[in-house]
Amino acid sequence: MRPARDFFAPLAVGAPAPLREIPARPSRAIHFFDPGNEKMAAKVPDMVGPGSNGPDVLLGNLEDAVKAENKEKSRQGLVDIGRATDFGPTQFWTRINSLDSPWVLDDLTTLVPEIGDKLDVIMVPKVQGAEDIHYVDRLLAQLEAKAGLTKPLQVHAILETARGVANIEEICGASPRMQGLSLGPADLAADRRMKTTRVGGGHPGYLVRQDPVRDDLGVPQYDAQRTTYQQDLWHYTIARMVDACAMHGIYPYYGPFGDIKDTVACEDQFRNAFLLGCVGAWSLHPVQIKIANKVFSPSVEDVAHARRVIAAMGDGTGAVMIDGKMEDDASVKQCQVMVALAEELAA
Ligand code: GLV
Ligand code: MG
Repeated sequence: MRPARDFFAPLAVGAPAPLREIPARPSRAIHFFDPGNEKMAAKVPDMVGPGSNGPDVLLGNLEDAVKAENKEKSRQGLVDIGRATDFGPTQFWTRINSLDSPWVLDDLTTLVPEIGDKLDVIMVPKVQGAEDIHYVDRLLAQLEAKAGLTKPLQVHAILETARGVANIEEICGASPRMQGLSLGPADLAADRRMKTTRVGGGHPGYLVRQDPVRDDLGVPQYDAQRTTYQQDLWHYTIARMVDACAMHGIYPYYGPFGDIKDTVACEDQFRNAFLLGCVGAWSLHPVQIKIANKVFSPSVEDVAHARRVIAAMGDGTGAVMIDGKMEDDASVKQCQVMVALAEELAA
């Protein structure tokens, strides 16, 4: 459960219920599909529900990757899927068009009355500051009240502009609807004028090189020793996201990894994000659902070790030695995080 927070002053008529306790629901893989693409849409019923091996979250994407001429088709496709599908325990999200686009108003004014009772989370791209979240929050409150919805929609922001990164704390705290943040590495790279052309992942040129041996005159001798270590382009931004989200009790996510065939590098990026505190990532192809489900679940060994430390520490204070390592109050807290996640995922 996330900590309780007050909802904005509710509207008088058909006011949405205040958000109080939001139960944690697994969201390891946020699987993107285009609801206007018949082939992709036809797969949705087989991806939801218990025992489907599907993603924790199915997200109908209306923004980038949907051609301008298909925006209405995709929006209507999402309405049709939302109405026809029983999602069971699978979460149903959408990514709306950006707030400076000509499509976003129709996205919200169509989706909330038509399928607002089915949708869990609205992902908002290219969020620049708290004002963007306030706008969406108020519009949602009005549309929910008009539609008589009782469950408030949650909001997820994509961090994909330099200004958004600079305003990250205020974005996370802008509304009690805030559910989480995703890294948007492709748009963020463009906005920052980084010199990459990829969607997430690393770059072979972003590296440090092991210090060279030097000859008697002090000249580096690289031929003998050219070991390089590739660095993570996204470490700084993910670390900022994790801190801002933890401070506000919401969830951080890696975002997209565009090289579908490179499952090894995808797993590495997802794992780094998991170790730093992220709870999930986007999946752009079914193969990435499996990767995210594996990476964002703590291993059996880690959970067993965590339980052992908790048991050995009794009331959680003091210090014990386990396998030659000192464990104390702070390591118990880390172990509790691990066990709590395992229990949430098993529930
Ligand atoms: C995602 O939307 C990205 O820009 O990476
Ligand atoms: Mg983007």
